[in-house]
Amino acid sequence: TTEEKIDSLLEQMTLEEKVGQMNQYNGFWDATGPVPEGGNAAMKYDHLKKGWVGSMLNVVGTEEIRKLQQIVVEESRLGIPLIFGYDVIHGYKTLAPIPLAEAASWDMEAIEKSARIAADEASAVGLNWTFAPMIDISREPRWGRVMEGGGEDTYLGSKIAKARIKGFQGDDLSKPNTIAACAKHFAGYGFAEAGRDYNTADIGTSTLFNSVLPPFKAAIDADVKTVMNGFNLLNGIPVTGNSFLQRDILKGKWGFNGFVISDWASIAEMVPHGFAENLSHAAELGTKAGSDMDMESSAYVRHLAQNVKNGKVDEKLVDDAVRRILRVKFELGLFDDPYRYCNPEREQERLYHDDHHAGVLDMAMKSIVLLKNEGNLLPLAKDQKKIAVIGELANDKNSPLGSWRLASDNNSGVSFLEGLKSYTDEVSYARGPKIFNDDASFLHEVQVNSTDTSGMDEAVALAKDSDVVLMVLGEHGFQSGEARSRTHLDLPGLQLDLLKAVYEVNQNVVLILMNGRPMTITWETENIPTILETWQLGTQAGNAIAKVVFGDYNPSGKLPMTFPRSIGQIPIYYNRFSTGRPDPEPNVFWSHYVDEVNDPLFPFGHGLSYTQFEYSDLEIDSSDSKNVKVSANVKNSGGVSGEEVVQLYIRDKVASVVRPIKELKGFEKISLAAGESKKVEFVLTDAELGFYDHNYDFVVEPGSFEVMIGTSSQEGLTGHFKID
Ligand code: IFM
Repeated sequence: TTEEKIDSLLEQMTLEEKVGQMNQYNGFWDATGPVPEGGNAAMKYDHLKKGWVGSMLNVVGTEEIRKLQQIVVEESRLGIPLIFGYDVIHGYKTLAPIPLAEAASWDMEAIEKSARIAADEASAVGLNWTFAPMIDISREPRWGRVMEGGGEDTYLGSKIAKARIKGFQGDDLSKPNTIAACAKHFAGYGFAEAGRDYNTADIGTSTLFNSVLPPFKAAIDADVKTVMNGFNLLNGIPVTGNSFLQRDILKGKWGFNGFVISDWASIAEMVPHGFAENLSHAAELGTKAGSDMDMESSAYVRHLAQNVKNGKVDEKLVDDAVRRILRVKFELGLFDDPYRYCNPEREQERLYHDDHHAGVLDMAMKSIVLLKNEGNLLPLAKDQKKIAVIGELANDKNSPLGSWRLASDNNSGVSFLEGLKSYTDEVSYARGPKIFNDDASFLHEVQVNSTDTSGMDEAVALAKDSDVVLMVLGEHGFQSGEARSRTHLDLPGLQLDLLKAVYEVNQNVVLILMNGRPMTITWETENIPTILETWQLGTQAGNAIAKVVFGDYNPSGKLPMTFPRSIGQIPIYYNRFSTGRPDPEPNVFWSHYVDEVNDPLFPFGHGLSYTQFEYSDLEIDSSDSKNVKVSANVKNSGGVSGEEVVQLYIRDKVASVVRPIKELKGFEKISLAAGESKKVEFVLTDAELGFYDHNYDFVVEPGSFEVMIGTSSQEGLTGHFKID
């Protein structure tokens, strides 16, 4: 058996070789070129030959990966193959929408397929492990990494976690086109204070247990092979050094048998955090806390063997970590054939495959959210004349690719203008002021022009002379993502000025947003009749938006995150708690702002269609408390067929740990022809009706519940039931 093979390997390994398996290095030299001489690279090369490296990240390409694998397999004493990891976040070359956008589809089948495409391409270049999915729940649109996750809700987030893991890992991890997934960041990273990346998270046990941990539990249940911890402190302890999270919960209570990788240098970062005295101490604390593999801190490779020899770390902990790492390598089939992912023909054939283009196009259309459509400006008639397209982002082949696209080719996206022109020649374009620098990238921050108005007059003149104006505004693709926190969530630079100037001369404006996070588009929502949220949709962005604009796809997305009216409302999320003073009172002493309403701009779950859906006949059967049935009739009462995400929310009215005013506990995406109706039924069991108490025990308490079935977290049919 695999475990016996691991036992036999462990018996043969020296302590240094064991520690080596726990060491991951960043790609440090082009293995197709000359061997490094001197310095760090030579040292790392030497470590490869000694078997002191278990994994590499950021090395891609079948040729390069084969060369490195060969060094380890042929030159190290035991020839234990490396596992090659990479951030394949929303595709490798062919890019799907950013994960937050995909979440807006609420379509688990499409999300799984999208991850499958990513795995197919990544595995074709020799990779066998992705650092995805990021399943951090977050209520923080200031935090740039919300683009990488599934939004604010734990129920939706758990379903997405499962779908993405299934997509990456498939049914058989040893196949050459499946890769190991990595659920990250364990845990609490999405609660970075004030939305500043890498910042402290300080959250109570109820939020930790009920909101943050469930997607990770779902990931373990979906057999995810690896978990990444993170950079943040959680309630005073770095998660990388947190044994409660990694040993008690993850490996203990949940029985996770894969391995935990640290985040980049997060073991070393326990020193500046003030948790470890020095790198050696960090190595000791990381191992004891269950961080099995060290990404780029070199803490383990330098200090762990010594820590074991002087009795600070029990060798059994090292053995356990190595066993976990080897297990995943066995499951990937690397011991049978270390080069099974290194097939240059497959590499040629799979990248940018036509099927992948079709798949990401489908995903992109499903990710679009129609926020507002007053007067039904959309869809445009196919013979619409005099269409003005305005905004720098409309003619951009990079920004719509979004962030976290390390391997993608620049300018490989279809711009909106290109997508539109494939439909009609009735299009004129004006850029308006130039807002973003052209050399912005993952490593170089975006610069925003807020003063140079050149291009404004030309855009306004075009708008004046057009029948309809499609304004494409938003964030640059690299304004969100890691280390891209913002304190302002409005349209960057002069974009709002441009919008206002255009609106003054032509009110037939469709605002097409491209952005990686919720934004405070309050003036826009109050004035512009039609708003389409297109996020950053990846390679096929322009084609997907054009199809929606002309009604060839009827938008069906729903927001996975609340849009605030102003930054002062953050954190604002639908599943909040009631205060003791929730309602307006005759005096000022109730829970509100003096300068802003409490409600969000757009609630979680919101999204319109070109048709209308009517909800009726709510029925509740709670005769069996273990299987409460709730159903409603949904009718497409408009003129075209469409899809609707039917959402079910509950509120446990009184509980020993107070429950939120609403919690999503079911959803179903249905497709209805014009005039068609469907009864949609949900069954609520203990899993939906219970919650975690402060001891992390799951409890179901008898009593009254409110239930709502509807079209968003704010609109639906409500009823009541009791369970005993
Ligand atoms: O996977 C990422 C992680 O999410 C953030 N830090 C770097 C890692 C590897 O690139």
